[in-house]
Amino acid sequence: MNAPFERLFLVCTAGKTCPGQGGEAVHAALKDGVFAAGLGDRVRVNKGGCLSQCGHGPMIAVFPENRWYAGVRPEDVPEILATDVLGGRPLERLLFRPARPGKNVRVPDAKP
Ligand code: FES
Repeated sequence: MNAPFERLFLVCTAGKTCPGQGGEAVHAALKDGVFAAGLGDRVRVNKGGCLSQCGHGPMIAVFPENRWYAGVRPEDVPEILATDVLGGRPLERLLFRPARPGKNVRVPDAKP
């Protein structure tokens, strides 16, 4: 083992838009689901600051795969758990496909 966790799910909970869109609830549901699946020592679910994609959230960034989910709702979490956390496959319908690399803020007053 060369890392404390195999995977990291980073949920935006502290930026301009994701918190108001349910980021905290998504984080809580995902963390609870990971522990319920007995994966708490392998998969880390952390609250994250703004991921510079404000207005597309709530956002989740998954590492080491570097895949990103957008518009995640708490009710989507069971499908993320089944497909990605347990299955190791991307949940295609929620994958974020930005128009360009880098910042993709679509909320005029959000300053990540
Ligand atoms: S508030 Fe979530 S990406 Fe900026």
